[in-house]
Amino acid sequence: MQDLAGKVAFITGGASGIGLGLAKVFGAQGVKVMLADVRQGPLDAAVAQLRAAGITAEGLVVDVADRAAMKAAAVATVAAFGKVHLLFNNAGISFFGPMDQAKEGDWDWMLGVNLYGVVNGVQAFLPHLKAHGEPCHIVNTASMAGLLVGPGMGLYSASKFAVVGLSNSLRLDLAPHGIGVSVLCPGFVRSNIHEAGKIRPAQYADTGYHVSEAEMARLDQVLAVGMDPVEVAEAVLPAVLENREWIFPHAEFQQELRDLFDRMLAALPNREPDPGRTRIEDFRRARRAAAAEVADRLR
Ligand SMILES: NC(=O)c1ccc[n+]([C@@H]2O[C@H](COP(=O)([O-])OP(=O)(O)OC[C@H]3O[C@@H](n4cnc5c(N)ncnc54)[C@H](O)[C@@H]3O)[C@@H](O)[C@H]2O)c1
Repeated sequence: MQDLAGKVAFITGGASGIGLGLAKVFGAQGVKVMLADVRQGPLDAAVAQLRAAGITAEGLVVDVADRAAMKAAAVATVAAFGKVHLLFNNAGISFFGPMDQAKEGDWDWMLGVNLYGVVNGVQAFLPHLKAHGEPCHIVNTASMAGLLVGPGMGLYSASKFAVVGLSNSLRLDLAPHGIGVSVLCPGFVRSNIHEAGKIRPAQYADTGYHVSEAEMARLDQVLAVGMDPVEVAEAVLPAVLENREWIFPHAEFQQELRDLFDRMLAALPNREPDPGRTRIEDFRRARRAAAAEVADRLR
């Protein structure tokens, strides 16, 4: 996607962290932004901050886990700006702990926001993006935790692995429509995500994880040395312009990724696939055709 000036972006989780960074960086390119967030106060402050910087910005209080609310947000954004060209499904929460301690409220909240938030964004906006026919791009925020796991990261990783798979696949499906898709996989970012527990809705109160103030402070220290959200957004900008599949702002995880793929390749049976049993050539042909279609759209 080229020529960002005058285009419109819908950014979930826009009141803070990476979402606000995206609004600043894309806003500085002349993109008009609709911020969506569950927290009214920080949302108002973010909109005011952007406007003070000369960026056209509006805010909507929306829970991304609420399908109907996301559909209403799409209608409201089109009513306010006419068209939407950039969809940033970015809102997310995190909490950590052994998976065997998770309760239903933990699973439902984590997947509701981090996975269904993305699904709802795609479902709500896609008919409009396809209908107006102008260049469009979707960026879904996953995480390095969408490729790598660690102890106590199970629920978060389950949600982010799903976002990676969804995004990579959506990219192939949307290429024929001229809509680019990228997946953003940051490492540590200096944001407010360690405070997510403070906004846990009552319907998800059933939890096996009770995050203390001390634990929040510890996570704050971990994130304090993370990347600035604006720097993350600056890595997203060229990726959107060039329709890149993957966005990795951090360089820290090369060895971990290499180790992961080495372990996977080592686990593959070391023999030719049985042609009678698999449809591997059909699969390869379909993937090659889809990848060529994505490349064609870039020309
Ligand atoms: N901070 C990190 O180290 C890091 C690393 C990798 C990925 N991420 C991902 O980046 C994304 C942005 O997080 P961040 O680090 O900027 O955190 P953040 O807490 O600073 O910003 C997230 C925003 O999302 C909003 N939000 C939370 N639940 C919501 C909901 N149901 N509906 C609408 N808005 C909601 C919050 O109010 C907040 O303003 C998340 O998807 C997160 O998982 C963060």
